[in-house]
Amino acid sequence: MARTAELRARNVAFWDQAAPGWIRHAERQDELGRPLGAAAMAALRAAPGERVLDVGCGCGGTTAEIAAAVGPAGAAVGVDVSEAMVAAARHRFPAPGGTAPVFLAGDIETMGEVPGAPFDAAHSRMTLMLLADPVAGLTTIARSLRPGGRLAATTFRDAAAVPWLMAVVLGAAPHLGDLPPLPLGDEPGPFSFGEPARIERLLTAAGFGAVAVEPRDVALVAPDDPDLLTAWLIEVGPAGAAYRRAEPPARAAARSGAARLLASLRTPGAGYRLPTGIWLITATTG
Ligand SMILES: C[S@@+](CC[C@H](N)C(=O)[O-])C[C@H]1O[C@@H](n2cnc3c(N)ncnc32)[C@H](O)[C@@H]1O
Repeated sequence: MARTAELRARNVAFWDQAAPGWIRHAERQDELGRPLGAAAMAALRAAPGERVLDVGCGCGGTTAEIAAAVGPAGAAVGVDVSEAMVAAARHRFPAPGGTAPVFLAGDIETMGEVPGAPFDAAHSRMTLMLLADPVAGLTTIARSLRPGGRLAATTFRDAAAVPWLMAVVLGAAPHLGDLPPLPLGDEPGPFSFGEPARIERLLTAAGFGAVAVEPRDVALVAPDDPDLLTAWLIEVGPAGAAYRRAEPPARAAARSGAARLLASLRTPGAGYRLPTGIWLITATTG
């Protein structure tokens, strides 16, 4: 219990330090980050009139997309633990397509049931692996769905399937100050959902059935602008706060350090293609 509380506090602190980077690069995240969630968005099949929950909605891009799909007769509710990102989401998406998404600040692990429940479906892009107590968070999601409600989510697979992520941290870190602790083993972090059997166990323990975990290989495609790409990827990751605190020469060195380690993923004149192994996770409530 004390360990869970410590991991939860670490998660909140992580997203506090990363939030300014996510807010600054929100448009880029929506555009270049789309392949990270396209499979879940397709599997979700949000239909007009449905009520849909978006867990870990960040700056709101996916919630707005869902709001447009469900239309004025439906509802799209985004939840995120970062109050700053929720404020940014509200500012960015007052009423896309005539249907206003609702954004709520809160920790999905401790909400009990998400206001607006019951939902027909839940969506989550790149968040479930970050939960300090995944069964607690998934239980909130399951409890907030109607019987027969659907979950469609994506997470990263393992570090080897996402080579650019650690390359950015390793390239930037020597030029910046202290970084947050790196997660070990099953601790919450980008790769804690590496093992599909564990994902199935966690979802089943939370009350989901018909669990399916399928690999998808996608790529982040970015313009040939090393400075822009590395600023984005550094700022949304564990080095984000240290990068913002650093002096301009150290920031430039951090971007160059990251760009050097990403060189094999660049075709000069054409751009970057960052291979990314994800899981598409689908399940239903009983
Ligand atoms: C990797 S970001 C993904 C954001 C967004 N889904 C996207 O793909 O652009 C993970 C998001 O999950 C949120 N998050 C992490 N733990 C959470 C929790 N326990 N409850 C709610 N949100 C959480 C973070 O604040 C962050 O916005």
